[in-house]
Amino acid sequence: MKLVGVVGGGTMGAGIAEVCAKAGSDVLVLETKQEFADAATKRVTTSISRGVAKGKISQDDADAAIARVRVTLDIDEFADRDLVVEAAPEIESLKFEIFGKLDTIVKPSGILATNTSSIPVIKVATATKRPEQVLGMHFFNPVPLMPLVEIISTLVTSPETAAAVTDYAKNTLGKTTVQAGDRSGFIVNALLIPYLCQAIKMLDSGYATAEDIDAAMKGGCGYPMGPLTLVDTIGLDITLAAAESLYAEFAEPHLAPPALLRRMVESGRLGRKVGRGFYKYD
Ligand code: 3HC
Repeated sequence: MKLVGVVGGGTMGAGIAEVCAKAGSDVLVLETKQEFADAATKRVTTSISRGVAKGKISQDDADAAIARVRVTLDIDEFADRDLVVEAAPEIESLKFEIFGKLDTIVKPSGILATNTSSIPVIKVATATKRPEQVLGMHFFNPVPLMPLVEIISTLVTSPETAAAVTDYAKNTLGKTTVQAGDRSGFIVNALLIPYLCQAIKMLDSGYATAEDIDAAMKGGCGYPMGPLTLVDTIGLDITLAAAESLYAEFAEPHLAPPALLRRMVESGRLGRKVGRGFYKYD
């Protein structure tokens, strides 16, 4: 896995590019417009520089890692990639299109992974002619700080593909890995999203304030962030997509996404990334 491709340079894609580059891989990030490409480059360099300021990485290593990341607008440049991780918006038709294109461009031995948190991995795998080389590689936000990667094998992912990607995540990226089946939510989101939605329903019912819900879970359970701050961090749109996917998969009434979450997404209050979610950010 010397040559890695990342589709999408948003919060997750930039984080994935950062950890791969810091681990020594040559990383190419695909973006759709020059302004998005510039923003992706800035995300990676800002975060790596923050690591220098925090004493986690030397200036020399940071410079070398930054030099290993390049952003392109041309998907054809992905031809030589050993591993491509897709971190595009959670839109099923868009992911189909991306996997279909990647399949025709990336060399036959290349592995294609999706960082989706809500779309069944088999759906994108079947957009390719190499479904045995497609799997889920699910990172957590913020990627440079969260140790976990969920590895999701579909019914047709080959054991060799899962083993190679697990080895890369564990031994090259230094992440903790867990294996999960191809079910909505995998392990983490199947547990986390219902908890977050319950906090939103509690707020909506007027039962407690946002500040008190967050303070309760931090102080009472030792969580690093309260649930509403966490939804703001993940993004309300991402949280809604994950909740909708769980509801569609299991059809259990308690998994129905909260109306308040829908209304906030519709009104553009997507969380920290836009400066406004359950809280306001400068
Ligand atoms: N590079 C390297 N290291 C960095 C860094 C950077 N850019 N920024 C910070 N650090 C280091 C710090 O030096 C510090 O290290 P130390 O513990 O050795 O001193 C550590 O990271 C923590 O940094 P801070 O002290 O600045 O930050 P906090 O203590 O406020 O912690 C947090 C930040 C780790 C994000 C914490 O708030 C947390 O764990 N939050 C929960 C996040 C979470 O639950 N994420 C999962 C979301 S779900 C998801 O992503 C799935 C999706 O599908 C929905």
